[in-house]
Amino acid sequence: MRVAVVHGPNLQLLGQREPDVYGRETLDEIVGRIEALGAELNVEIESFQSNTEGTLLDWIAKTAKSVDGFIVNAGALTHTSIALRDCLVGVGRPFVEVHLSNTAAREDFRHHSYLAEVAGGVVYGFGPESYLLGLRGLVALIGKSKAKS
Ligand code: DQA
Repeated sequence: MRVAVVHGPNLQLLGQREPDVYGRETLDEIVGRIEALGAELNVEIESFQSNTEGTLLDWIAKTAKSVDGFIVNAGALTHTSIALRDCLVGVGRPFVEVHLSNTAAREDFRHHSYLAEVAGGVVYGFGPESYLLGLRGLVALIGKSKAKS
């Protein structure tokens, strides 16, 4: 199984960015934890971060051909990007939306996600654990759909 992990705008700043909200772990450290869980679950992990919407869309479209699903922390694009939603639907791979913070408990503008309705599942608010819980959920989803086909 292969899973791609998408990190949106400003997530390269983790570790120094609003540590009271996002914690002190860097993106590299979080990716290391995702890869360690991937190894345990026998899942190959590919990660990508960009601050640019179009670059993320291009990477998702290209990468979808070689992966079974996506973990997506789209950062602020979650709340703004119909293009990202269309891309994720368009590539036809299951995905889990994750957030470090509990966006539902923050400012009103973070309450709406363009991705949640089309996601296989969502995990908000567990810090870096959100990615790990999301990966376990996605692996179960992919396993179920493989069993059906
Ligand atoms: C975030 C939540 C978003 O609202 C915010 O714009 C981020 C980080 C999170 O992981 O908690 O950049 O996606």
